[in-house]
Amino acid sequence: MNIILLGPPGAGKGTQAQRLVERHGMKQLSTGDMLRAAVKAETPVGLKAKAVMEAGQLVSDEIVSALIGDELDAMPAGQGAIFDGYPRTAPQAESLDAILASRGRKLDHVIELDVNEDALVERITGRYTCASCGKGYHDTFEKPVVEGTCDKCGGHEFKRRPDDNEETVRTRMAEYRAKTAPILPIYETQGIVSRVDGMADMDEVTAAIEAILGTR
Ligand code: AP5
Repeated sequence: MNIILLGPPGAGKGTQAQRLVERHGMKQLSTGDMLRAAVKAETPVGLKAKAVMEAGQLVSDEIVSALIGDELDAMPAGQGAIFDGYPRTAPQAESLDAILASRGRKLDHVIELDVNEDALVERITGRYTCASCGKGYHDTFEKPVVEGTCDKCGGHEFKRRPDDNEETVRTRMAEYRAKTAPILPIYETQGIVSRVDGMADMDEVTAAIEAILGTR
């Protein structure tokens, strides 16, 4: 199964993708994570992307589509893909169709996380991840069971993203409204879009997604 999780910054795409990975062995393909890894490693792609990401704008379509193609090539044919943060523009949606078709894959579901943007700034500015394993947490909504210790790997170091400040979040939301939300009709005409209330409790969101996928 190949699915897209669509929604503005902080809608919960990464949170829900991680859960599907743990439960069903699917692979999360997050272009944001790929780009952050490239920035950290100071690769040519990372050097180009750094300032763009820190400003909350979109990296070029060619770069992100190439990253997605490479990741799919490294996956076993039978492993399902969760596209998280990709596609984000109409050209990326077109590229994804071609990328999937050339690898004998097709899209099964596009799941839109429907959220109230005003609440998202709090979600984003409060989130952090384990520096060792990447598990996500939130100051209010998802704290580690033992303060200062990662539930998953026992690590004690945590980090926050440089683009998770209010000003950049507002730019990211504007980019979403202008460039990403308009791709939904493309998938609506294919009859593969479902909507989930992304403001519900995290477990309820997961249950709603599982119901759509038929995996509950
Ligand atoms: P990217 O990393 O994709 O960021 P984003 O789309 O802005 O999405 P986020 O990761 O911020 O949000 P999320 O929906 O995953 O929320 P999360 O689950 O963490 O992109 C970053 C940048 O990279 C872009 O700005 C751009 O520059 C570049 N880029 C990436 N892809 C690109 C592309 N395709 N094209 C061009 N440029 C690209 O949840 C947020 C917090 O809320 C968490 O703390 C979580 O615990 C909490 N939370 C989640 N769900 C709930 C809930 N139901 N209730 C309460 N709290 C919740």
